[in-house]
Amino acid sequence: MRIIVLGGPGAGKGTRASLVAEHFGVPHISTGDIFRANLKAGTQLGLEAKKYMEAGQLVPDELTVKLLFDRVAQDDCQGGYILDGFPRTINQAQLLESELVKMGVNIDYVINVEVPDQRIIERMSGRRTCSDCGIPYHIEYAPTAAEGVCDKCGGEVVMRSDDAPETVMGRLTVYHNETSPLIEFYESRGSLKNVNGDVEIEDALSYILKVLE
Ligand code: AP5
Ligand code: MG
Ligand code: ZN
Repeated sequence: MRIIVLGGPGAGKGTRASLVAEHFGVPHISTGDIFRANLKAGTQLGLEAKKYMEAGQLVPDELTVKLLFDRVAQDDCQGGYILDGFPRTINQAQLLESELVKMGVNIDYVINVEVPDQRIIERMSGRRTCSDCGIPYHIEYAPTAAEGVCDKCGGEVVMRSDDAPETVMGRLTVYHNETSPLIEFYESRGSLKNVNGDVEIEDALSYILKVLE
């Protein structure tokens, strides 16, 4: 199963991608999580990506595309994967399409998580993220069992530096200008499935599985 999860910043891509990945037993690949892991490890890539991420801008394709292609070529991706946050531009989507043709595979579904901008701003202000495994929590809607500690891996749960309200507004603008044209791109290929992202987290997986039937 190969699925792309599309949506605005804070739409709930990561929350849903991790549930869907667990359901199908395939890896959850988030380019944002990969950049943050690199930043934490102090790699050159992490330092480069940081400049763009903290400004709410897209990381240039030269740093993003090859990294993603290398990841999906790994052994654990043979049975499929869930992509979260990639592609994010028409150019990335076209490059992915030709790479998948070379690999002899295709994307089964593109799940477009729909959430109004106002709701996004509310979610981001309460979001906390595991600094080790990247799982998102929310102080109100999805709290950790013990404060500041990840339920899954025990890592430290912190506020992301790009979740400041000013940066979130900028990320929304980038999304509307550069990423939202992907909705039409995948609609024209017949793989787009719209899901309402404004539902309780407990119901998120069943909503998605329903549209995939
Ligand atoms: P990335 O990490 O992908 O950030 P994003 O797209 O802005 O999305 P988020 O991770 O912030 O939100 P999400 O949709 O995963 O929502 P979540 O599930 O956490 O990318 C970060 C940066 O990296 C980019 O800005 C860019 O610079 C760079 N980058 C990454 N990929 C790139 C690419 N391909 N090309 C170029 N640059 C790239 O949910 C949000 C909150 O809401 C959580 O607190 C959650 O608990 C809560 N929540 C979720 N669902 C619900 C619900 N149903 N009800 C109540 N609360 C909910
Ligand atoms: Mg995410
Ligand atoms: Zn964790």
